[in-house]
Amino acid sequence: MTAATRDPRRPLPSPSKTRAAVAPFPGAPPALAIRVGLRARSLLRRLTDRLSPPELVVFDRATAIAEGALFGAIARADVADLLEERGPLDAAAVAEARGLDADATHRALRALAASGVFTLRADGRFENNRLSRALRSGTDERTREMAIYFTSPSNAEAWLACAHTLETGESSFEHVHGKTVWEWFDAHPDEREIFAHAMMGITRVDAPVVARLYPFEDVARVCDVGGGRGTLLSEILKRHAHLRGVLCDAAGVCESARQLLAERGVAHRVELAPGSFFERVPSGADLYVLKNILHDWDDDTCRVILRVVRRAMQPGQRLLVCESLVEKNSRDPLGTRADLQMMMVCRGRERSRAELHELFEATGFAPARTFPFPTVSLVEAVAR
Ligand SMILES: C[S@@+](CC[C@H](N)C(=O)[O-])C[C@H]1O[C@@H](n2cnc3c(N)ncnc32)[C@H](O)[C@@H]1O
Repeated sequence: MTAATRDPRRPLPSPSKTRAAVAPFPGAPPALAIRVGLRARSLLRRLTDRLSPPELVVFDRATAIAEGALFGAIARADVADLLEERGPLDAAAVAEARGLDADATHRALRALAASGVFTLRADGRFENNRLSRALRSGTDERTREMAIYFTSPSNAEAWLACAHTLETGESSFEHVHGKTVWEWFDAHPDEREIFAHAMMGITRVDAPVVARLYPFEDVARVCDVGGGRGTLLSEILKRHAHLRGVLCDAAGVCESARQLLAERGVAHRVELAPGSFFERVPSGADLYVLKNILHDWDDDTCRVILRVVRRAMQPGQRLLVCESLVEKNSRDPLGTRADLQMMMVCRGRERSRAELHELFEATGFAPARTFPFPTVSLVEAVAR
């Protein structure tokens, strides 16, 4: 078996345990720096598009699927790891080490280098650069797993069927695969594992933002509903020593959260509450968090989830929804792209603040404060 076809059941490497065990995650850059960086990127792209013949720009965009697919194939073959350990290398050496075809490998890496991922040196050898280095295994951000998840055949086939969503508003994933993405994960645990790691990487970046932006001083017990493996909850507890936590997710997920909670030194402050947020969540917390949950579902289903959470709460207790906010006429290229992923794959959507407020009003909550941030915003509601 070559690395390119490596056994998907092989456990994924843990991110740097020693640092995670002793300290909170490093904070995100300031909101202004992220906003300016993303805006500049967007403006520069528009400027260069204006200066180029439109047919070349359209070719570039229409064939972007090739770059995405290559990202996934190169990530699966662990080429970035190889170059980090033994680079610079020519394509023949990469191909030999990874069981790939030398000519195809050269052409793939050459194309990626031409768009800024990997560097092609004057001597014809390839080496990592800032972007390709992000594809190494075992990083805290798990960008490699993100690349693999988004380019997985099941996800890519859903994207290729986007015309179905355009025509009907239905999920193309369900149209193509005949089941919801959650049922798909039940039947394909390897893909669920990759998705879980990609999600942990995203949350690893968002968690310090949530832990820093929200005033946790007057909270005693926080319940993370659909909290995955505890990436967010562990960061909140790490940064706020007075807090105790409840992690609520499917039984198997709660079980696999134990390791991370222990590594981060907060397991003794967390109660695991396996169960479904469609049926019951535990009472007794004074703050309930839903991070990247509502965006997975259509409005009717969100109302069901919110009513179940509301039932666990007393009047005056608080709910914190942590998601990207995407306004109706948003020009945010990342938020609008994430919204499409939700639309195609799981009948969900990235919502505006007003849309979240409407859901709150319909389910027994009064909208309260908003703490905006470019990557994840916090929208608070109070149980009536
Ligand atoms: C997109 S992930 C978000 C995970 C976590 N909140 C985060 O932001 O990293 C969705 C989570 O919802 C959980 N989930 C899905 N259906 C659920 C249900 N019926 N009850 C509880 N959790 C559920 C999944 O197991 C997964 O951990």
